Amino acid sequence: MGTRYRRLVAAVLLALAAVMMPAHPAAAGTPADYPEFPYPATSYDEAFRGQFHFSSRAGWMNDPNGSFWYRGQYHLFYQHNPHGLAWDTMHWGHATSPDLVHWTQKPIALEPGVHAGDLWSGNGVVDTANVTGLKNGADDPILVFSGTNGATIHYSLDGARTFQTYGGGRKVAVPAGTSRDPKVFWHEPSRRWVMVMWSDGGGNGADFYTSADLLNWTWRSRYAAGWFFECPDMFQLPVDGNAADRRWVLTDASGEYVTGDFDGTTFLPRTAVRRMDHGANDAGGTFYAGQTFLGDPRGRVVQTVWQPAARGSVWSGNLTFPAELALRTGTDGVSLTRTPVDELASLRSGTVTLSDRTVTPTTPVSPAAADTYEVTAVFDAASATATRFGLRLHARADGTYDRAVTYDRAARTLYGAPLAPENGRVTMRVLVDRGQLEVFGNGGAVSISDVVRFDSAAGSQGLQAYAEGGSVRLVSLRFDRLGSAWGTGEPTLAGNLAGPWAAAGGTWTDVAGGKQGTATGDGFYLNSTVAGDGTYEADVRLRDAVAAGLTFRDRYTANVDAAGLVKLWRPGRDIATYATPIARDRTYHLRVVAAGPRLRVYLDHGTTPVIDAEDGTYATGRAGANVFAGTAVIGNITLGAPGFATNVAGPWRPVGGTWTAPGDGVRAQAAGDAFYLSGTTGTDFTYEADVRPVIGVAAALTFRATADASQHYTANVDTSGVVKLWRPGRDIAVYPTPIVPGRTRHLTVIATGSRLRVLLDGTQVIDAVDATYPTGLFGLNAYAGTASFQNVRLGPA
Ligand code: FRU
Repeated sequence: MGTRYRRLVAAVLLALAAVMMPAHPAAAGTPADYPEFPYPATSYDEAFRGQFHFSSRAGWMNDPNGSFWYRGQYHLFYQHNPHGLAWDTMHWGHATSPDLVHWTQKPIALEPGVHAGDLWSGNGVVDTANVTGLKNGADDPILVFSGTNGATIHYSLDGARTFQTYGGGRKVAVPAGTSRDPKVFWHEPSRRWVMVMWSDGGGNGADFYTSADLLNWTWRSRYAAGWFFECPDMFQLPVDGNAADRRWVLTDASGEYVTGDFDGTTFLPRTAVRRMDHGANDAGGTFYAGQTFLGDPRGRVVQTVWQPAARGSVWSGNLTFPAELALRTGTDGVSLTRTPVDELASLRSGTVTLSDRTVTPTTPVSPAAADTYEVTAVFDAASATATRFGLRLHARADGTYDRAVTYDRAARTLYGAPLAPENGRVTMRVLVDRGQLEVFGNGGAVSISDVVRFDSAAGSQGLQAYAEGGSVRLVSLRFDRLGSAWGTGEPTLAGNLAGPWAAAGGTWTDVAGGKQGTATGDGFYLNSTVAGDGTYEADVRLRDAVAAGLTFRDRYTANVDAAGLVKLWRPGRDIATYATPIARDRTYHLRVVAAGPRLRVYLDHGTTPVIDAEDGTYATGRAGANVFAGTAVIGNITLGAPGFATNVAGPWRPVGGTWTAPGDGVRAQAAGDAFYLSGTTGTDFTYEADVRPVIGVAAALTFRATADASQHYTANVDTSGVVKLWRPGRDIAVYPTPIVPGRTRHLTVIATGSRLRVLLDGTQVIDAVDATYPTGLFGLNAYAGTASFQNVRLGPA
């Protein structure tokens, strides 16, 4: 789109935002401030809904924002209007994924009226070193940058569940002119944070700021360039995989980019402006406002991009499938390549491979029929006599089809984009989704992101390799069906209970807003975490069920009942009831404060309990959801002040030292080595915890231990500056890294036979072999000081 038109769009957006912004934004947000969430239920199966392309469960989305990885999850935020299918009142929507493929819709992260400023595009960073000093618990501070005409900060201290506005929404960096879309990243050589922001002071360009603490920013330089408009992104990549030749890439919203040098202060371009994608690269098109994830655990630069033209009945806008970016030297110099991340493989099935087939106008090759799939086809362009050849997608028996991905030999274009054959060959890789088509040529040398409203009817799912005006040799073809990425795992039961979950009666499925349970009598869905005292919360919605609620200590349930009651009961006894009208298809918030025998039930965030009762029958047990006689949805189940949160069965007992449970986890005071051992034995497993050496030397995970702890493996964080894996008499492996007293780290041990791996904050730091102890007890260890432990979890290896 032309610059003039872009400016017009921007001006309209600005004017709209000025009208929409409330005058008195509140300071902080709790889930109660987000009336739009849960969204209405969906099976993600509507026409044109991407099955492996991310879209918001409901409402409008535009730019991806604040994309980063934190402790095992990719976080994706996005420009979002939850109230309709057009751009309006920008919120930040939120979703998470362990693998860039399967996304879980989360409650809205930033909401106008709750969070200050225009909540427009920006990004997010994890402050692992606590340079902000904002940290107040186990989670690292997470900061997101947003705002127009200057950047504002919102931050989370609970792992991106809730955000607060920093400094009343004060602007921390204000370029001249109109500005927006801050992108913050770490610059290792200068050991500073850098912010790049689009602005139009004196024409289009980027302003660079730096900061040591992420909160105070200093202007450093400006890169002025007419081509450069909105949504800057900046990252460093090796050229042809050569780590000694790393270049900075600066991109804008339309996917135009230059590569060059950046010393932490000033950007110096070294190449001409190029385009990384050849779709419709504008705000109404098929590829716009991309962003890369920070902190990819495999060190990749992974990008996802808004597809504006994609839309369906309850959603509009989706993202391209995450692509890994690289720099490659070709005949015309260094340019970016885009390749779908290899995690896509988890959706593949029904593989078909072919090789060495001659394709002519009368003998097309039809390897398979499918709705959503991936094909990689290699054609020999050098020996071809065909003028055009390629793939026909969603072909029908009558010879029609929805789209052809064509290589034109005379024009040397793939799907309209310039592409020269490589060693005489043309490789086309296509991702075909319900409403999305991505085409990659010659290993990502060319990328074309498109929106196509494919006909998914059974008779319209043919795939053909075809040729026109002559023949072509199909050197090889691989086809894979791609399954739906939605609805696996625990996508909708947002909460903080560790799992695993298990049904005990009834059938339970994932829907928007939580877990939907259907039972003739009582059905339960329970988390394996055993807890006693604490604050339990859940959102409950009756569909046609008589009652549904929140179960805790295995046997107590607080419910809403369509007869017009809130009830606290246990098998055999209604402990107390409270009469109040209860409507179907409305979400009620239930909170239970359990303190010994005193059980209080609160409704819809009320400050006084509607039930305040005593029952001392059950002291501990699992928590979860209950449905009675029909169908209901229960979501967002959380347990606050959980004491010691663990799914490792006890009884836990000290072997040395003093161990206490002060309310948040367990705490050790140790003169030498002190152990806290569970009642659970394991051989192969993943064992993890949040560990904190409060004062003194080390905090650790112990495993395969004997009951007296004379034999064991222990993986620790040690304030002398190491992560260490040891057993009595031997340090098996040591990994030097700064360990600061007082700071919580996440330690993970993956044990498979004699292979013992240790991960620090999700990144593997030790991979060792030791065959001394094959099995034994799980426990915790502290050495010479005070250490605390929380969220101790055991899972499969
Ligand atoms: C790009 C954009 C950004 C802005 C956001 C507002 O699509 O115009 O520049 O921050 O959308 O939603």
